[in-house]
Amino acid sequence: MADTTATATPDTVTTSDDGIRRRDFLDIAAVSAAGIGGLAVVFPLVSQMAPSKDVLAASSTEVDVSAIEPGQAIKAVFRKQPLFVKRLTPEEIAAANATPTGSLRDPQSLAERTKEGHADILVTMGVCTHLGCVPLGAAEGEVKGEFGGYFCPCHGSHYDTAGRIRKGPAPTNLEVPEYEFTSDTVIQVG
Ligand code: FES
Repeated sequence: MADTTATATPDTVTTSDDGIRRRDFLDIAAVSAAGIGGLAVVFPLVSQMAPSKDVLAASSTEVDVSAIEPGQAIKAVFRKQPLFVKRLTPEEIAAANATPTGSLRDPQSLAERTKEGHADILVTMGVCTHLGCVPLGAAEGEVKGEFGGYFCPCHGSHYDTAGRIRKGPAPTNLEVPEYEFTSDTVIQVG
């Protein structure tokens, strides 16, 4: 590539009938070759950075929600972090929907945090958005806080039935990860 440019001496700079100088052609050829060389170098890097099938498999979690009773939650693991999957009762859904989103620190409706047709299934990370403790409320008998959802005992953050921050230092709602229903009863997270 560099040789090509080096051979472009003033002798080779000629003007053809259509006005394109020979020197222009050599410069373009040199740039094109450099571009191809650049691609050849970049491609292996990109392919090395792409996750392997093993990593992709480990990065998603499947959960069968059929056995979760209304008012119950299960703890799973997603990308090595706790994941809460909860089936809300009609009362918990009503409580979430009765809260004006405009009054919330991190305004989001329950509908925005669940999937259409599955408003009773709330999927959130079990990681407090303050400093990362695992909130209580997913297991039977655990404290659910003043708003009936989750309570982080580390510094007292209270989340409501939609996992939205209502009181305490946490800045945002419990994160809802990317997920989809792969059947009526199974979700795939990630
Ligand atoms: S880590 Fe949850 S309130 Fe601080």
